[in-house]
Amino acid sequence: MISMHFGYSRDSAEDIKIAIEKRKLSIRSKVKSVIPCDALLLNPIAPINATFDVVGSSLMLDCAEGSTYKQRLKNASALVKSGGFFVQFSNGPGCCNWKCGSVFFKVVDPQTPEDNAIALDEAGFNILQTANFELPPFFCQDGIFDCKDMFLTVCRKRY
Ligand SMILES: C[S@@+](CC[C@H](N)C(=O)[O-])C[C@H]1O[C@@H](n2cnc3c(N)ncnc32)[C@H](O)[C@@H]1O
Repeated sequence: MISMHFGYSRDSAEDIKIAIEKRKLSIRSKVKSVIPCDALLLNPIAPINATFDVVGSSLMLDCAEGSTYKQRLKNASALVKSGGFFVQFSNGPGCCNWKCGSVFFKVVDPQTPEDNAIALDEAGFNILQTANFELPPFFCQDGIFDCKDMFLTVCRKRY
């Protein structure tokens, strides 16, 4: 999966590390500003009032504790212009513990693809494309990280 995502032909740990570092540098070079965001708020970036052509969420809405998953998705939707895009990375069903670097995050609301599709629809999105990626088994070697797959979903907000 990572090879497909990052454009590499093999899934070795070294390839993934190199690809991630390249992506980090590329993304950071394009960032113009960093603003606080709380997914639990009706306007997650309050006190700023703004909507965007594209909003992305990576493994966050299912880890943010408080309110409901559907409400958090609606909060995110409030940031997307009508006709704009929402790009979501989410954990596969059955995932309870995600790891970023050395930090573990509880996945409080793991979603089945079917439930996620309903929540996205209720938040005003039409799903354009979904892809499911299996994670390489060595991701799970610490005995805590237990996510076997993840989903990439690209949606468009209805007018
Ligand atoms: C599994 S990590 C994902 C980190 C990163 N986005 C990634 O894809 O690697 C979950 C993230 O959700 C963030 N988070 C938890 N509660 C949140 C909230 N209420 N609002 C915004 N972010 C939150 C955590 O700080 C953490 O960075």
